[in-house]
Amino acid sequence: MAIRYYNIKPWGRSLKEYVRMFNLTPDDLERKILGCGDGSASFNAELTEQGGNITSVDPVYIFSADQIRQRIDETYNDIIDQTQKNQDKFIWQEIGSIEELGRIRMSAMEKFLKDFAGGVMQNRYMPGELPFLPFSDKEFDLALCSHLLFLYTENLSLEFHLKSIEELCRVSNEVRIFPLLDANADRSPYAEPIIDYLRARNRNVKEIKVAYEFQKGGNTMLRIC
Ligand SMILES: C[S@@+](CC[C@H](N)C(=O)[O-])C[C@H]1O[C@@H](n2cnc3c(N)ncnc32)[C@H](O)[C@@H]1O
Repeated sequence: MAIRYYNIKPWGRSLKEYVRMFNLTPDDLERKILGCGDGSASFNAELTEQGGNITSVDPVYIFSADQIRQRIDETYNDIIDQTQKNQDKFIWQEIGSIEELGRIRMSAMEKFLKDFAGGVMQNRYMPGELPFLPFSDKEFDLALCSHLLFLYTENLSLEFHLKSIEELCRVSNEVRIFPLLDANADRSPYAEPIIDYLRARNRNVKEIKVAYEFQKGGNTMLRIC
């Protein structure tokens, strides 16, 4: 299988986590939402089940559920080992242990895998990748991007980040990005240049504290209107 996003591994969070990462209110959940880089998160499956209007876009959606499952199986132990080595960079409160983390992530990814084929038929899972998205201008009310921008500072350039955020602003009225940390749980060196760049273009940008914190210090999101 030729998934070429070797450095960006499949890992999936739940609707409950998205709600807390992005301060999503019941009103937010009724908006037309784009999940960019949702990968194997169960956000789309769970929100659809409760009547939401959600489209997810990710390059892995060119593959079948079986191929994505194979990639999850190939990388799962690596991610767990890496997290174990870097345990001190996380807050083990809501998620109490590595074992629990593994169980929670696998349960979210199983929900996603079960929903995937049906969701593709309904165009809820669309293949595509930043910095160019297959959507028209302002097609969405709210675009969410979790654990892709900033987190992969080492792999993705500042220019890529700027283009990607402009693209998210093109397709959506509002954009929220979480977290502002890189993979070492340090604040991304791109955070300030990006905030300055957006303010210079008269975008309304705010860094907002959220209830979610798993990576130590990862408790803010960037909100751009
Ligand atoms: C670490 S996972 C995060 C998944 C999900 N957002 C979550 O928080 O559980 C990062 C996701 O970004 C996707 N990705 C990688 N490059 C991308 C790009 N250029 N545009 C959109 N998504 C991308 C990967 O395929 C992967 O599914």
